[in-house]
Amino acid sequence: MNPALRFGIIGCGVIGPTHAEAIASISDAELVAVSDRDLPRAEKLASRYGATAHADMDEMLARERLDVVCICTPSGYHGQHACAAMRAGAHVIVEKPMEITKEALDEMLEVQRETGVKMAVISQHRFDPASERVHALVEEGAFGRLVLGNAHIPWWRSQAYYDSGAWRGTRGLDGGGILMNQAIHSIDLLAWLMGPVHSIKAYTDTLVHRMETEDVAVCALRFKNGALGTIAATTGAYPGVTTRVEIFGDGGSAIIENDQLGYLHLRREDEVEAGAYGGAPGGKQSTSDTEGSTAADPSAVNTTSHGLQIADMVRAIREDGTPILDGEHARHAVEIILGVYESAQTGKEVLL
Ligand SMILES: NC(=O)c1ccc[n+]([C@@H]2O[C@H](COP(=O)([O-])OP(=O)(O)OC[C@H]3O[C@@H](n4cnc5c(N)ncnc54)[C@H](O)[C@@H]3O)[C@@H](O)[C@H]2O)c1
Repeated sequence: MNPALRFGIIGCGVIGPTHAEAIASISDAELVAVSDRDLPRAEKLASRYGATAHADMDEMLARERLDVVCICTPSGYHGQHACAAMRAGAHVIVEKPMEITKEALDEMLEVQRETGVKMAVISQHRFDPASERVHALVEEGAFGRLVLGNAHIPWWRSQAYYDSGAWRGTRGLDGGGILMNQAIHSIDLLAWLMGPVHSIKAYTDTLVHRMETEDVAVCALRFKNGALGTIAATTGAYPGVTTRVEIFGDGGSAIIENDQLGYLHLRREDEVEAGAYGGAPGGKQSTSDTEGSTAADPSAVNTTSHGLQIADMVRAIREDGTPILDGEHARHAVEIILGVYESAQTGKEVLL
C-alpha cells in the first residue's frame, strides 16, 4: 500500500485550520507541515496535528517533500503561492476565489500546464448533498427549459470583521467585497446549475462599512443558454439572513436555502398538472434558520464539505484523474464577478 499523501498548508488564519481538520479526516492523507508568516499561528496549528511549523513557505516547500499544498492565504496571494508550490512539484488545492485578476488566473493555469501537477479550487458547496442532487437533476433535464436562476446572499459582517485583517475588503488583496469574498460560493453554484454566463448588467455600492470595495451588489444576468438570472448580495443585512440559490424551469423548480434543499417540485412527478395559474404546492418546504451558517458567522464553515473536496483531490491523484473542480472550471465564477465590477463601473452591459 502507498504511504499517505504528504500535505502542507500555507496560511493558518481562519480557514487553514478547517483544511487541517479535513486532511486529518482522510485516511490516505497526512498533514506534515504548515506555514504562516506569523510563526506562533503556524506553531499552534502544527502542534495539534504533529506537523512541522515554518514561517517561510519557500523553506517548507524546499524541505518537506509535499505531495499536496493547500493555499489558505489572502486571495490576492493565491496565484503567487500556488505557482511557487506547483513549481516545487506539489499538487495544489487553492481556496476560493481562485485569484482576483484575469492575469493571475491565466498564469496559474499556465504554470499548471508547464509543471503537469493537478489543481483544485475550493467551492465546497458543490459537494453539499442538496447541490449535487439539483445538479444531477439539471443534467437529466428534469427542470425542462431553464428560464430563471437567482442567487440571494443577504449576509452580515460587522466593521470589526473587516478590521480584523488589513487585507479584508481591499481591492489589492480581497479583490472585492461581498461578491469576491462571500457571494462567490453561491455565484459558482448558480453558474454550475444554470450554465455559463453570457452577459451582465450591474450596480454595486458601499453603504454600511468603511472599506474600499462593495458591501452591496445587484446584477442581471443572461446565461449562454438564454435563461435570465439575478444576483443580490450584501454584507450589510443584519443579522445575516437565508442564502438562496433558485433554479426555475418549465419542468420544475428548486431552491437551495442555507445549503439545504428547501424546495423541489418537478412536473414529471405531478399526478395532476398545475393549471393555467400554476400554484401546485407540494414541493419540499423550506426552513429559514441561519443558525450555524456563514450568513452571520465567517468561522462557521462546515468541515465536511472541505473534507469531501480534499478527498476528491486524493482520488484524482491516486487515479491520475482530474479533480471535480479544477482551475479551468473554477475561473468562471471569478470572471462573472470581474464582469459585475466592470459593468457597475462603466454603466454598460459586459459580455463574457
Ligand atoms: N471556503 C470558505 O468557506 C472560506 C472561508 C474563509 C476564508 N476563505 C478563503 O481563504 C483565504 C484566507 O482567508 P482567511 O479568512 O483564513 O484569512 P486570514 O487572514 O484569517 O488568514 C490568512 C493567513 O495567511 C497568512 N499569510 C499571509 N501571507 C503569507 C505568506 N506569504 N506565507 C505564509 N502565510 C501567509 C497570514 O499571516 C494569515 O494567518 C481567503 O482567500 C478566503 O477567501 C474561504
